[in-house]
Amino acid sequence: MKKGVIILGSANSDGETRKIVSFVHDKLSYPIIDLKTKSISEFDYEFKNRNDDFHPLIQEIVDTYEIIVFATPVYWYSMSGIMKTFFDRISDCLKIKKETGRKLRGMEMAVISCGSDRKLKNGFHMPFIETAKYLGMNYTSDVHCWIEEGGIPISVKNKLDMFIESIQ
Ligand SMILES: Cc1cc2nc3c(=O)[nH]c(=O)nc-3n(C[C@H](O)[C@H](O)[C@H](O)COP(=O)(O)O)c2cc1C
Repeated sequence: MKKGVIILGSANSDGETRKIVSFVHDKLSYPIIDLKTKSISEFDYEFKNRNDDFHPLIQEIVDTYEIIVFATPVYWYSMSGIMKTFFDRISDCLKIKKETGRKLRGMEMAVISCGSDRKLKNGFHMPFIETAKYLGMNYTSDVHCWIEEGGIPISVKNKLDMFIESIQ
C-alpha cells in the first residue's frame, strides 16, 4: 500500500467533507491533515509569511508521502478558499523552497469533493489536474460525494470503495 496523506480543506472540521474523509481514513489509515487547524496565510509576493505553518507542513508531506489526497467541499462551484490558499502557497516552493518543490515531482495527487449537488460542473477538477501537471505530479483519480440525512449514502460508499482501490 502506498504512503498517503489526506489534506482536508473544509471550513468545518467536523462537517460533511470530514464524514467522507473519515470513511476513507477508516479503510486506508492515511493520516488526515486538517487545514482549518493550521495557520496558513494567503500567498505573499514578499514571503513575509514564511514562518507560518505552510513550510513545515509541505516539507513533512514531500518527505513522508507518495500520494496526496485533497479533500474539499464544493463552495461556489470551486474548491474551498482554505484549499485554494494552500494551492497558492505551493508557489512558495517554486520561489524560495525550490528543493521542496522539486520533491513534489513524481508524487501522486487524488481529489475528493463533497457538495450538495450530485454532479460537479464541468471544469471543477481542472485546477487540480493542471497543477499536478505543472508540478510534475501524477493525477491519479477523483471522486465526488455528498451526504444525505447526516450520513453517506450507499451509492457514495460504493464510489468511495472504487476510489480507494484506485489510489492505494
Ligand atoms: C459557501 C458555500 C458555497 C457552496 N457552494 C456549493 C456549490 O457551488 N455546489 C454544491 O454542490 N454545493 C455547494 N455548497 C454546499 C456544500 O458543498 C455541501 O454542503 C458540503 O457537503 C459542505 O461540506 P462541509 O461541511 O465540509 O463544508 C456550498 C456551501 C457553502 C457553505
